[in-house]
Amino acid sequence: MSLRTVVLAKIIEKRALAPQTHMLKLAAPRVARHAQPGQFVIVRVSEGGERVPFTIADADPSAGTITLVIQEIGDTTKAIGAMSAGDSLQDLLGPLGAPSEVETFGTVVLLGGGFGIAAIHMLTRALRDAGNRIISIIGARTRDLLIMENEMRAASDELIVTTDDGSAGEKGLVTQALERVISREPVHRVVAVGPIPMMRAVAEVTRPHGIKTIVSLNPVMVDGTGMCGGCRVEVGGETKFACVDGPEFDAHIVNFDELVSRNRMYTEFERGLRTDCKINRLTAAG
Ligand code: NAD
Ligand code: FES
Repeated sequence: MSLRTVVLAKIIEKRALAPQTHMLKLAAPRVARHAQPGQFVIVRVSEGGERVPFTIADADPSAGTITLVIQEIGDTTKAIGAMSAGDSLQDLLGPLGAPSEVETFGTVVLLGGGFGIAAIHMLTRALRDAGNRIISIIGARTRDLLIMENEMRAASDELIVTTDDGSAGEKGLVTQALERVISREPVHRVVAVGPIPMMRAVAEVTRPHGIKTIVSLNPVMVDGTGMCGGCRVEVGGETKFACVDGPEFDAHIVNFDELVSRNRMYTEFERGLRTDCKINRLTAAG
């Protein structure tokens, strides 16, 4: 692992993507040089502040920048949302996590659900560069919440957009579009990032067809280096740590029930019902 800590990571560019959702381009030359699809960074806004994980949405080694997509959820992400280009995050550690598998598989379908779209962008481009035919399916509840459509279109051979209310693209869920693609042509691999119910539903669509399916899990993260055990998940009957063994795993052998119940347990902390633990969840938003 080529871990780098960037002290005072400067915001080079900041742009609104959707309500309370921001794209940040940060100066982090050594992280940009080593970042691979599927990896994440942990940032702190201030000395002694909470450590928040973010999936790397893009990296540009020549410009020395990485791109993160931040959704304002808690105090730290709200603080980042209030920052401007020219401001600096206190520090940034990464790249963390195991890189995605990038090989020539054939036809690959990548699904991004809501805010998870940001987390599949870098992998989409890498899989296309590796010679795969890329069909991307991105979905959001409504048009306003749809992010990175242009970037995903540019990285894909075919892009299908869905919204739950039909305000953009097709009306329906990403899984409905996936079922149609699978009935239309051979698919050799599926990758899905988004809310847990979506990743679980994708796994059930592909299971009967025997299509290898990868999901990026978002359990609680604390240190991000395999030391604290916070991100424990059960995969194939074995205990894995999402921060070092993942975050990507074979969807057909993930114990989603355990993931849901562990995340639910920590929701109490997030809502402030329990205060004896500080936790963070890996998302493109942290
Ligand atoms: P959301 O609830 O608005 O759902 C987005 C889309 O996902 C929907 O429009 C629909 O097409 C699909 N979807 C949702 N539930 C579904 C179901 N039961 N069956 C089929 N399709 C379904 O999403 P959001 O509020 O933007 O949340 C995004 C989630 O992605 C967050 O929970 C975040 O933690 C997760 N995330 C994970 C990572 C990671 O790296 N693991 C990265 C970014 C985001
Ligand atoms: Fe601590 Fe993974 S976040 S072990």
